[in-house]
Amino acid sequence: MRKPIIAGNWKMNKTISEAKDLVTGVIGKLADKEDVEVVFCPPFTALATVKELIKETPFGLGAQDLYWQEKGAFTGEVSPLMLKDLGCDYVIIGHSERREHFGETDETVNLKIKAALAADLKPIVCVGESLAQREAGETAELIKKQTEAALAGLASEVIAKIVIAYEPIWAIGTGRSATSADANEVIGLIRKTIAALYDQAVADQVRIQYGGSVKPVNVTEYMNQSEIDGALVGGASLEVDSFVKLVEY
Ligand code: 13P
Repeated sequence: MRKPIIAGNWKMNKTISEAKDLVTGVIGKLADKEDVEVVFCPPFTALATVKELIKETPFGLGAQDLYWQEKGAFTGEVSPLMLKDLGCDYVIIGHSERREHFGETDETVNLKIKAALAADLKPIVCVGESLAQREAGETAELIKKQTEAALAGLASEVIAKIVIAYEPIWAIGTGRSATSADANEVIGLIRKTIAALYDQAVADQVRIQYGGSVKPVNVTEYMNQSEIDGALVGGASLEVDSFVKLVEY
């Protein structure tokens, strides 16, 4: 059985005091939640504060990016070791916003996944097609390519530590979400791709989330799908009440 995982990707939102308010509010309402794994992914500046607040709780902590080198002359970057040292459990890798605005490629995504795993951080790897690619009928091919490139060179023993997030770019922050059936189909394809690279038993262990305009009103529909193991949530993770409702789907 794969344990469902709901992660809040705060993106570039929340000062330290706002982070405290949000996390304290969520913990207060969800302290006993054991059947769903809940992960906060604040900006780098709030990671230490959030860690302090969640340290006696089952909540997890994730960063939103990392660099693949251990240390050195890489101004502005943050290493896997630094995130581990802060108490991070997870790190988001290859979000479409990073691919679009910061030059992230399938190759850098692969390097970052390897570096995260080497530091004992669990990657949340994002894949997803643009609207133009979907309309051109290229979704299946692109998703397969992104998944294969992300996992290139990884041993089967580490695959279960990876979470994949299927986030169609056209559904992010737009209020236009994929239908649950479409999301389930693409996520099934990701699992099939992993089974072809490794085997079915490995593929069956990997948790795959849907992301893109997930809200309290539609989360249950996604979570009821056979292939969908969770959600990576942007906007609706920024308010206590909506995030709590999501987790209580
Ligand atoms: P929204 O939930 O705001 O659409 O963002 C999704 C996302 O990009 C999560 O990583």
